Amino acid sequence: MTYNITLIPGDGIGPEVMEATKEVIDASGVEINWEVVEAGAKVVEEYGTPLPDYVIDSIKKNKIAIKGPVTTPVGKGFRSVNVGLRQALNLYANVRPVKTYEGVPSRYENVDLIIVRENTEGLYAGIEHNVGAEAAESIKVITKKASDRIVEFAFNLSEKQGRKKVTAVHKANIMKLSDGLFLRCARESAEKHKSVEFSDMIVDAMSMRLVQGPEKYDVLVMPNLYGDILSDMASGLVGGLGVVPGANIGDDMAVFEAVHGSAPDIAGQNIANPTAAILSGVMMLKHLGEYEAAKKIDNAVAEVLKEGKIVTSDLGGSAKTMEFAQEVISKMND
Ligand code: NAI
Repeated sequence: MTYNITLIPGDGIGPEVMEATKEVIDASGVEINWEVVEAGAKVVEEYGTPLPDYVIDSIKKNKIAIKGPVTTPVGKGFRSVNVGLRQALNLYANVRPVKTYEGVPSRYENVDLIIVRENTEGLYAGIEHNVGAEAAESIKVITKKASDRIVEFAFNLSEKQGRKKVTAVHKANIMKLSDGLFLRCARESAEKHKSVEFSDMIVDAMSMRLVQGPEKYDVLVMPNLYGDILSDMASGLVGGLGVVPGANIGDDMAVFEAVHGSAPDIAGQNIANPTAAILSGVMMLKHLGEYEAAKKIDNAVAEVLKEGKIVTSDLGGSAKTMEFAQEVISKMND
């Protein structure tokens, strides 16, 4: 079977890590017809938007996409492509597995947690306005529908993957109505999934606990902004942004992408770590049911990281992006 998959190279290091990812996936034996579509800063001049309709149309047609990061200007201009995509395609669950790989420099061992972030509302609903010249307001939207959906997703994922514990992360002591509603939905969902242990924690305490003992946590589910912050923070526990993959999942579509951004500081040098993008590809293959190919790539990546000889500079090596990918491919063929 041949899959039609949308590939968005993105900005900055995006094209470099996505080329590496494509080569590795192609070498796994799964047949993919890649439909490459451009989005982000590079298309703004031509199309007047970083997210032209053809991008949305391609993903709606193929149902599956893998994307590189895109640059979003800070404090002005267009809405983030990522937020736009997630809302336009109703990709309500952002799933980020954070796991230690042997050989990757980190102060921790045995970290294996999954961050499940609500992806469509919260403080990312995009409702912001000025109040006169000297104040501005952002509206945080929490609905029962989106909260039920994300906490159910987290419990279902836990059951499917044999995970033991779900922790709902919130700030319901201060935002009693909005986060209070989220927490209530999580507690109700927990009642329906008794085989999975449930607890909740305030986001500030959670941040400290994660730094003190990340190996104690399993699946964490939370509103949008907390998920954004904690997933970068958690990446730092296992070797940095270069190694943490992600997926945006909806009911009938999914877009896979690493946690990291377009890294303009190292773009164009072929030194970005493609591990996060390749592992996002592994998540995509699992989503497609291509478990054997997924495992083959995952094992090869783990082996290359463990050896630590051909790794990129963020992990203390001197390999180029494509050299890492080639090494993964040669391990797959061993
Ligand atoms: P960033 O994640 O691009 O970079 C943060 C730091 O991590 C930089 O020092 C960078 O060199 C390093 N880094 C990131 N990925 C790496 C990799 N694969 N290998 C080695 N080092 C890596 O975050 P930053 O600088 O805040 O954002 C840059 C741009 O990316 C912004 O325009 C932002 O809006 C956008 N962004 C896009 C995302 C997406 O499209 N999914 C996600 C996050 C940010």
